[in-house]
Amino acid sequence: MPKYLIVGASGQLGTALAAQLGGEALPAARRLLNPAWLDIDLENIAAQPSLLDRVFGEHEVGGVFCAAGATNVDRCESDPAWAEAANHLGPLALAKHATAIPFVFFSTDYVFDGAAGPYTEDAAPRPLSQYGRTKLEGEQAILAAHPQALVVRTTTVYGPDPQGKNFLYTLRRLLSEGKPMRVPADQLANPTYVDDLAAVSIALLQAGQTGLFHAAGPDFLSRYDFALQACGILGLSPARMASVTTPELAQPAARPLLGGLVSARLDAALLPVFGRKPMRPIEQGIRDWAAAVSL
Ligand SMILES: NC(=O)c1ccc[n+]([C@@H]2O[C@H](COP(=O)([O-])OP(=O)(O)OC[C@H]3O[C@@H](n4cnc5c(N)ncnc54)[C@H](OP(=O)(O)O)[C@@H]3O)[C@@H](O)[C@H]2O)c1
Repeated sequence: MPKYLIVGASGQLGTALAAQLGGEALPAARRLLNPAWLDIDLENIAAQPSLLDRVFGEHEVGGVFCAAGATNVDRCESDPAWAEAANHLGPLALAKHATAIPFVFFSTDYVFDGAAGPYTEDAAPRPLSQYGRTKLEGEQAILAAHPQALVVRTTTVYGPDPQGKNFLYTLRRLLSEGKPMRVPADQLANPTYVDDLAAVSIALLQAGQTGLFHAAGPDFLSRYDFALQACGILGLSPARMASVTTPELAQPAARPLLGGLVSARLDAALLPVFGRKPMRPIEQGIRDWAAAVSL
């Protein structure tokens, strides 16, 4: 039986994809958390695409989800070679090896400048950072090279994360330890529950959809308001949380301020599959995350 190759199985989204695909998943990563996983490092395949011959020669692959990428936005500024390999050239090499089967690449609202979000698929991109630039290059190259490619842009992904890296984990850790936390009130986007992102990506692929889709949650709000809602639901005191501006944070990579994504195209395409809008509101998502991590 053909399986779905999931590159980046150690990450937040890769974990959710593998869980939902169950026995149909063929997980791959650069750090093998399970001996049965395949070894795929995007930097290595960017430099030597023929490394993939063995993967596709030895396994019956029915589709590919490229969930891996250079996701540390600030590190991308100081390590553009990693960003280029993991967000553009590595995924492109993977797509070129899989032109006969469906291929999903994940991108970001950081392809936009944040002057006028939330954005629809036809808005003109203008990335402000290496992360956004290399993701946009990856999107464009993959759509040109692969006739069935699906590019799914998302933003502010949260939910259960085996590496505990997303915003909710940081918020819970710092505030429950009584530590201060500075949260920008001028960065707006739509938080996206990771299980929903996995479910819609699988559904799009299985419905034979191709091209560009925005896939983000329904609530458009600032990072600070997201944090305040989480405090209320999780019973954390926001007293040590400071509302700051993005310039005050002096982050290495520029952020789109009015970012975020409009997912109307996704909602319409998947209405026959889900019978409703597929992305849960943040209030539900925060509660579901708390239940999933047994708070
Ligand atoms: N999280 C968000 O808010 C967000 C927003 C917009 C778009 N996205 C996109 O959605 C996708 C999934 O994000 P996520 O939240 O699941 O990210 P994540 O938890 O940071 O996972 C990233 C994955 O990429 C892997 N990776 C990094 N460099 C690699 C390399 N050279 N070769 C192979 N694997 C490599 C990581 O492996 P290790 O475990 O070994 O580090 C990890 O499995 C990414 O493409 C990301 O850009 C995410």
